[in-house]
Amino acid sequence: MEDLKILGLCGSLRKKSTNMGLLRYAKEHLPEGMTLEIADLSHVPFYNEDIKDKPPAVEMLFQQMSEADGFLFACPEYNYSIAPALKNAIDWASREPNNLLLSDKPAAIMGSGGGMGTSRAQYHLRQVCVFVNLHVLNRPEVFCNAFADTFNEKSELVDTRIQQLIEQQLMALKAFAQKWQRDSSN
Ligand SMILES: Cc1cc2nc3c(=O)[nH]c(=O)nc-3n(C[C@H](O)[C@H](O)[C@H](O)COP(=O)(O)O)c2cc1C
Repeated sequence: MEDLKILGLCGSLRKKSTNMGLLRYAKEHLPEGMTLEIADLSHVPFYNEDIKDKPPAVEMLFQQMSEADGFLFACPEYNYSIAPALKNAIDWASREPNNLLLSDKPAAIMGSGGGMGTSRAQYHLRQVCVFVNLHVLNRPEVFCNAFADTFNEKSELVDTRIQQLIEQQLMALKAFAQKWQRDSSN
């Protein structure tokens, strides 16, 4: 069986992003048979229907999305909702013919933020996923407090509880995605 290809998208663009720290931890602790590529959203412009020639960063993102069997979203919370860089990437992809880059693919969500662990933003993201027909893993949910010794000064994840949760989520995503692939090939 081929490796399951997951694409990671992070809603924070800052260098010391803790959400990117979650994705990096995931990449270093993948279950066997799964790969994780992390997209660079820093040069993706705001979606604008007037842009007829896709910018190179968008082409690159689309290429990675088309090769992905599923997605892992690192979802910061900005003013109780989804950070614009992440929503923008989904918006761009959703305008491709037949929504082929996203439709019918599995996804999982994690997030690092204030005391509520980005739960409000994550539930908004789940709502967006309904419309673009992404199938989001229910459990385990990964809600992480960025300000409670969860990360070291390099924004590496050091909290063992969250580390375990991410490893469990990756296993669950793998099982969920494989079930999805089996069901859709029948
Ligand atoms: C514009 C803005 C709005 C924010 N709003 C919230 C919020 O509603 N809830 C929350 O938990 N954190 C909020 N934060 C704090 C972020 O959770 C915090 O900056 C977090 O570290 C961002 O993730 P990062 O480390 O991956 O950049 C906000 C930050 C910014 C810049």
